[in-house]
Amino acid sequence: MNVGIDLIHFATADFYLGLDEFAQQKNQDPNKYLVGIGQEKMSIAPPDEDVVTLAAKACDPLLAACDSSQITAVFFATESGVDQSKSAGAFLHGLLGLPNRCRVVEFKHACYAGAAALQMAVNSVRANANERILVVAADIARYDVDTSGEATQGCGAVAMLVTANPRILAVEPGSGYYTEDVMDFWRPNHRDTALVDGKYSTKVYLNSLKQAWAYFQEATGRGFADIQHFCYHIPFTKMAEKAHKQLVKLSNVEQTDADTLAQTQPSQIYNRVVGNSYSASLFVGFCSMLDHYAQKAHDLSGDRVGLFSYGSGCVAEFFSGVLQTGYEAHLFTKSHLAQIAQRKPLSYDTYLAYYHQPQPTDANITFDTFHTGPYRLAGIQDHKRYYLKTG
Ligand code: CAA
Repeated sequence: MNVGIDLIHFATADFYLGLDEFAQQKNQDPNKYLVGIGQEKMSIAPPDEDVVTLAAKACDPLLAACDSSQITAVFFATESGVDQSKSAGAFLHGLLGLPNRCRVVEFKHACYAGAAALQMAVNSVRANANERILVVAADIARYDVDTSGEATQGCGAVAMLVTANPRILAVEPGSGYYTEDVMDFWRPNHRDTALVDGKYSTKVYLNSLKQAWAYFQEATGRGFADIQHFCYHIPFTKMAEKAHKQLVKLSNVEQTDADTLAQTQPSQIYNRVVGNSYSASLFVGFCSMLDHYAQKAHDLSGDRVGLFSYGSGCVAEFFSGVLQTGYEAHLFTKSHLAQIAQRKPLSYDTYLAYYHQPQPTDANITFDTFHTGPYRLAGIQDHKRYYLKTG
């Protein structure tokens, strides 16, 4: 029985900060960002947007295209969750009116959690074909102002329906993973911004890819020549390019730079203008690749996609899937393109004002309406978050 991604849709915030504007504020050459790290814009969440509202926005069209009363579980992956105890998925479950006969749980391991949730969902469906699992990966990437990470913020959420006989991607059994206890990027409980040892994190990322790739080949017998498209975790697009170059080298493949780019660049188009969305980032890249070829009416049915997930700290996994015949008919390309195109630019000062919006610790707050929805965080009262469906 094939199991995998039946539907997939991504959402991002209504605003962005251009890295040209960012460079000007920081007295830097814009090419440090546009070329050096390969980023143009980062999506910025206003104060009344959080991972729950982004996730709900990602789920909406997907649930409209299926029977939501049949959803048996919600697996919510995030490293920027809204509560230390209650799963962000439980808020989402209420907001979307999902059935009560449903299991909900939050997954955490930095940017790896999205792939972990997907794999757990796939295995649940393999064990019981009646399971229809909503996997959501949603994050708002936040670093301290004036640190190396500030240019690599962003936000986004990806919703995936995982079922038997999926219409988009059959996830293949067997994968290669790698875990090592390291401190390359982390966020202690008292902080709402991440700490990072930037250069070190890029080295750990590449080493984890090397180890996970070796394991993947041993476990599956599949190698570089068996895979047509590669999607990587993308903290910034230059990282994915470095990753792919390393994989080419490790696989002893003779390739021109153009070949190397063709295998990875379609999966970087959205990420380049959305920024890092941590656990969602790999899947934003997957949507980017599917939409890129869909716009060219280039059918990828039967092609194998290699997916590499990396979560600092660190856990990594390389796995693969096969695109199903007719998958293009079930994509949400128009919605993705419209969301990206309709975002409004922020000045650096407005970005800072959003960034510094106080999160109440013991005071109540009603948030101004910054964005039009379709969901917003309306306020926090007695330490309880209240959401609104506005669209
Ligand atoms: N024109 C063209 N290129 C330029 C340039 C210019 N004017 N100025 C600089 N560059 C190039 C540099 O040569 C460098 O290229 P290489 O990486 O190929 O050497 C690149 O731009 C970056 O420049 P710096 O090294 O000077 O930049 P930095 O030190 O300020 O920041 C970073 C780089 C450390 C990666 C920083 O972006 C960072 O800390 N990011 C957050 C951490 C991160 O994303 N790590 C990735 C791995 S961990 C992970 O993947 C999990 C996750 O999501 C966080």
